[in-house]
Amino acid sequence: EKGTYPHYMLKEIDEQPAVIRKIIQQYQNESGQLVIDQDIVDAVDQSDRVYIIAAGTSYHAGLVGKQLIEKIAHIPVEVHIASEFAYNTPLLSANPLFIFISQSGETADSRQVLVHVKKLGYKTLTVTNVPGSTLSREADYTLLLHAGPEIAVASTKAYTAQIAVLSILSEVIAKKRGLEVNFDLIHELGIVANAIEVLCDSKDEFEAIAREYLSTTRNAFFIGRGIDFYVVLEASLKLKEISYIQAEGFAGGELKHGTIALIEDGTPIIALATQESVNLSIRGNVKEVVARGANPCIISMKGLEMEEDRFVIPEVHEILTPLVSVIPTQLIAYYAALHRECDVDKPRNLAKSVTVE
Ligand code: F6R
Repeated sequence: EKGTYPHYMLKEIDEQPAVIRKIIQQYQNESGQLVIDQDIVDAVDQSDRVYIIAAGTSYHAGLVGKQLIEKIAHIPVEVHIASEFAYNTPLLSANPLFIFISQSGETADSRQVLVHVKKLGYKTLTVTNVPGSTLSREADYTLLLHAGPEIAVASTKAYTAQIAVLSILSEVIAKKRGLEVNFDLIHELGIVANAIEVLCDSKDEFEAIAREYLSTTRNAFFIGRGIDFYVVLEASLKLKEISYIQAEGFAGGELKHGTIALIEDGTPIIALATQESVNLSIRGNVKEVVARGANPCIISMKGLEMEEDRFVIPEVHEILTPLVSVIPTQLIAYYAALHRECDVDKPRNLAKSVTVE
């Protein structure tokens, strides 16, 4: 039930700190170690390449998952849109492991790939919020998100839960491989949960940003570099699907290769700046669009902030920033949809799970 909340989406955004804490608890043993079923750890550890298959928001979580698995567990990862992989299968490695990321566990595009790769004899793991769902039943292994039912069509808490679970998987695999992990993931995820709480307490600020930048605009751009690029893809999907504003997520440096032609006087550009290595370059990209009249809104992270920034998110470990930087974009999308009198929980033309190919 949505209780005192006007919409499920807002309730589910607010649940994210609790979901992160629940995941830490569910994947921890009595001695405080992160644990995952040995069979799953062995299957991932023994693979020479991980193929992540997913759609929509889950695909965007998969892109972040690739970073986590590659950086922490040192296994190469490819991320594929399920409906593309099904018809345009890439050359596979000798010993692949397939991970299906699906909130509902019912997405037909993903299931089609699952059925296909099972026939080829490959190992499969489903990361889902729904125990007993089709993708969970049909895969060799399942990791649960423990996010509680997600009712709003626009996925929010499932995205953060998927990333949190993939971070834990990466850490456990790294330990198994004897790799050094130079941070305490349980501790860092705790910091993330607290940071999300702070952002959920700043709703007025995000409502003001939505009102100022998005209440009448026809289009909007989100830009980021590195891991922020993956988050802006999700940010633009969220804004599109519930507010019907034409939005695009772009890698900051790629704009000048064509898309910058779309910038007009007042075009909103929301930029994420959470990564030290690209902090100056993303700000350079913002200057390029401002010179063409864009209306910039920079959301940065504590420690990297500059005077021109509109909002500064609390500092978290640099590899976990998507869990936190996505929250302002979820709330901005929510308020933009609200201001434009859209049906936030049930956007037009969309269903919660897409069971047709
Ligand atoms: C976006 C959204 C969709 C789903 C996609 C995959 O907010 O909800 O893009 O993420 O249809 O669904 P699952 O994760 O259930 O496979």
